[in-house]
Formats: sequence, structure tokens, C-alpha cells
Amino acid sequence: MKRLIVVSNRVQPPSEEATGNQGGLALALSAVLRESNGIWFGWSGGETESFTGLINFQKSAGVTTATVDLEPQDILEYYDGFANRTLWPLFHYRVSLAEFEREFVDGYERVNTRFAETLLPLITHDDLVWVHDYHLIPLGQRLRERGVANRMGFFLHIPWPPMGLLVSLPNHQELVEQLFAYDVVGFHTQDWLDNFLDYARTHMDAEVDEDGTVRWQGRTLRALACPIGIDGAAYAQTAQSPTALAMCRQMHESANDRAMIVGVDRLDYSKGLQERFMGYERLLATREDLQEKIFLLQIAPPSRANVQTYQEIRAQLDSHSGRINGEFATVDWVPLRYVNKGYARDVLAGIYRAAKVGLVTPLRDGMNLVAKEFVAAQDPEDPGVLVLSNFAGAAAQMDAAVLVNPYSPEEIADALALALTMPVEERKARWRKLMDGVVNEDVMWWLDRFITALDPETATAGPAGAP
Ligand code: F6P
Repeated sequence: MKRLIVVSNRVQPPSEEATGNQGGLALALSAVLRESNGIWFGWSGGETESFTGLINFQKSAGVTTATVDLEPQDILEYYDGFANRTLWPLFHYRVSLAEFEREFVDGYERVNTRFAETLLPLITHDDLVWVHDYHLIPLGQRLRERGVANRMGFFLHIPWPPMGLLVSLPNHQELVEQLFAYDVVGFHTQDWLDNFLDYARTHMDAEVDEDGTVRWQGRTLRALACPIGIDGAAYAQTAQSPTALAMCRQMHESANDRAMIVGVDRLDYSKGLQERFMGYERLLATREDLQEKIFLLQIAPPSRANVQTYQEIRAQLDSHSGRINGEFATVDWVPLRYVNKGYARDVLAGIYRAAKVGLVTPLRDGMNLVAKEFVAAQDPEDPGVLVLSNFAGAAAQMDAAVLVNPYSPEEIADALALALTMPVEERKARWRKLMDGVVNEDVMWWLDRFITALDPETATAGPAGAP
């Protein structure tokens, strides 16, 4: 088995204690990293006055992490700037929110160069290098320029936009050309893959084979759709852990026989929270019979708080939630519980289990793992109903959910009414179908498919290749 080097903007090492806080992706990557004696490289999340390239190595639960601090200007231009003020909105189809500043591009290129220079001495000739997400598209090219000939893969965890939107980025072709430094490029869905192939074919005149092999100016990459999953079986167990069951009981008690609808999202404009609140508001206004019988718990931990669009959405949601409660609450009923805090995985699992409806309505989302976790956390004898946006990557695999157009408050209200009154036999049948998908196409299945494309030998040797 070859050694794996994973590179991502954020590094999430496993903790020595099983706190239940680490996500499925981090757990799966940790398993392969541990097995292959690999390294997880990225930003520490911290800052330093002037970039030194000094690597902080740590070993936690058998996984080696290697992180570097960044300068304030790097964080401003690379992370807050090009990654989250340019690429994030554009790739989530929100061109009008995207900011195109040359200094962001410079900062993005600079940090990718710094990452490449720092990582270079750690790479030995047989390592597999796997780069994750939109923060690090140029990294592969920077490594190739420095003589790295290893197999290198890239995985995009957010949508890839249609060509007509991508071309609004002034340096669009340069960005796409950088992907050709990788041997394998993965997307969550066929839609994102098709958008990429369309651009390569139409805009770059690349040759595209049916199996996703793309040839352009002497370089060949293999592009594939490979939807990420969770560890469905493990999450189902987490939902029955003492912490989760205690939380589930607590929620039932505090619900006081009212049906809980739950949403859990980073506080991000791509998650459709305003439209979701409008849908819920519409349900309350049009279905008086449901008033005082339901409530929505929306958990939305703040995110990327230095970016103005995030400050704006937070202020809008503060005011919107206040308006809903002001209009509909009674002396002993709060229709919307809006919480700006994050919770541990096992606590969330208990909350999901207590809910009648999981409301996952992003306006655009690469995949959305909350949808899968909600399903895995349910009680098979009395499962809650998943209401899912058509525009989440997860919708391609989860057609047994109640699918909605997240821009339409009417559709959201109708879907909620349907879900809240759905007979138990239909809930069970839909849940069974969803759960089979969550368990069969799990995170190990995803990892194995990607690594098989990158290096078949490693895929069958390590835990990623395990059945
Ligand atoms: O899913 C996209 C993503 O950017 C991940 O890479 C990241 O872990 C997550 O969203 C949270 O974003 P951030 O690291 O900016 O808080």
C-alpha cells in the first residue's frame, strides 16, 4: 500500500478520546492515513506575523498531521478572499455575491505556492497525493513545477458551476488549466461533472472520452462523479449511544407532544435559511390547525464571520426569526427555536432521532451530509421524514425523500404539511430505501472508488479496499 498524503485547508485530526465530534470524512481519511502511515497537511487555522513555513507535526490516534500558520494578509486574501468571497459564491451559482479582486487571486496563488514549497520535502517518490477542495486547486500544478511526478488526485466538495456562470470569473481558464496537473479529479454528482466536462470540451477544446478521460495539450486527467457518504452503520449506532438517547429523551420532554422539525446548517447563504423560514412562516399562516402543534428547531452555527455576506445573512436571520416568533408565538409556545451554536455529533444524532421532520433545503450544495446523518439517526419503527432540496448533491441519491424546490416557500410549506401527516407505513418505506443507500454508498465506498481511480493497488490493500 502506498503512503497517502492528504492536503486540505482545514486539518481535522482524530482525537485520542472518542468524543463523537469528528465528521465521517475525517474519520474515513484518518483510517487510511493511519493504515498507510500517511500525513494530513494543511492550514493550522492560526496566524503568524510573517510566514516561516515551519511545520507543526502532531500525532493523534495514530494519524500524523502537519500544519502551518498563515499571515493575516494570506488569511484575508486567500481564505476570506478568493476562496470564500469569490469561488464559494460563484460555485454555488450566486454570481452577484462574488467579488472579483486581483489581490484575492494573488493571495490565493501565493498561499498555494507556500503550501507547495512547504509540502515538497515531505513527499517521497511513491506517495499518493490527494488534495481536497476549492481552496487548493493550484496546488497540484505548483507541485508539478517543483518536480513532483507522483500520482495526484483532487476532490471538489462543492458544486462545479455551469460554463455560463464560470466564465464570469476573470481567471476562469487559468483556474481550470490548473486542474490538469492532477491525474484524477472527483466531483460529488454527475451534474457537477457534466458542467466541468462541458467547459473542458466547449471552452478549452479538450478531448473528452465517455469514461471521463479528458485530454488537453498533452495532459490527461480522469474526471469522475463519486458521491461522498457517511459511515451510516456507525452513525446509526451513535444515535443509540447513551448521550444521543439522553438528548432524544430531553427533546421529547421539551417538545411537550409537539412535532419537531429540525434543520442543522452552517450559517451560510447557500443553505437557503431565509427561504426555509419563509416556507415555515407560510405553513404557520396557512395551516392554523398546525399552530401550537409543531415547532422548528434551526441550529445554525456562525461561519466565516469576517466575510460581509455572512454578517448580512446572520443579521437577516436574526430579524426574520424574531418576526416569526413575534407574529405566531403564544404565551406557552415558541414556534421557532433558532440557535447559533454547534453541537457534538452524538448530541445532534439524538436531536435528529427525536425529530418528525428533517428539513434540508440548501439553494445549492455540493452534497450535504446532514441529510444522510438525519436518515441514519432515525428509529426504524417510527422514522422521521426527510424534506430535501432538489439542488443538494444528495438529492441525486435520495429520491425517497420529499424533494422540494428550496426557492419556493409554497413548496416548502406543502412538503412540511405532507411530512408531518405522513402515515407510518409510508415513512418506513421511504426510510428503508434511504437508509439502504446511506449504508451501501457510505464513506468507505466513496473513498475506495476515488482511490481505485488514483491507484488501484492501494485501494485493494488498505481499509479503503475492505468490503
Ligand atoms: O464543504 C465545503 C467546506 O468548505 C469544507 O471544505 C469545510 O470543511 C466546510 O465547508 C466548512 O467551511 P470552513 O472551513 O470555511 O469553516
